[in-house]
Amino acid sequence: MAANELYQEAVTTIRALLEEAVRAAEPEPTAMTLATADESGRVSARIVLLKDVDERGVMFVTNYHSAKAAQLAAHPQAALCLLWKTLRDGIQVRFEGAVAPVDAAASDAYFASRARASQIGAWASLQSQTLGSREDLEARVTAYERQFDGAPVPRPPHWGGYRLQPDMIEIWYGQRARLHDRVRYEIVDGVWGKRLLYP
Ligand SMILES: Cc1cc2nc3c(=O)[nH]c(=O)nc-3n(C[C@H](O)[C@H](O)[C@H](O)COP(=O)(O)O)c2cc1C
Repeated sequence: MAANELYQEAVTTIRALLEEAVRAAEPEPTAMTLATADESGRVSARIVLLKDVDERGVMFVTNYHSAKAAQLAAHPQAALCLLWKTLRDGIQVRFEGAVAPVDAAASDAYFASRARASQIGAWASLQSQTLGSREDLEARVTAYERQFDGAPVPRPPHWGGYRLQPDMIEIWYGQRARLHDRVRYEIVDGVWGKRLLYP
């Protein structure tokens, strides 16, 4: 199999597993841990939602002024981890690679598809900054509701997508007696390869 076909195989497998997880009513099937690091090497992890996975990589959306965005600017590499606990005997998917903002049109398109309350929330939240009180946040929500009353809510310039372009993908299938199957796809010397790992 040609090397880039291996990458396509991994993406196709993950898309099919995600659909299976949705059908199996897995709670939060798109929730994934995003790990980033700052310039000193200190690591942070938090959950974000997977918006898209295709041949270009894995997309998530966030606030470009958030702590994670500052880390990604300083160190544009990250890891993502998904768990589908109730699917088959448990499946974990891991991605590692370089991260870059998506183009404005892709962020606009996704923002336009969001519920209006979420769009207002994106304007109101100064994500990762100190919040004096819940009332301060609610006052900002009210102010933006007034500002955009009767009109479509535009995408805030500080809100949008990132895409992680994987150079490592691992699909972990739970098996009996902890003898799990690990299938690792990764770029070695510029070429996608595939191998099994001991659990
Ligand atoms: C289930 C779940 C889904 C979340 N989805 C997102 C998301 O898609 N984008 C986002 O910016 N934060 C999301 N969050 C909030 C983040 O976990 C985090 O609190 C926030 O992004 C701030 O992180 P930071 O200060 O490290 O930048 C989600 C949290 C949970 C629990």
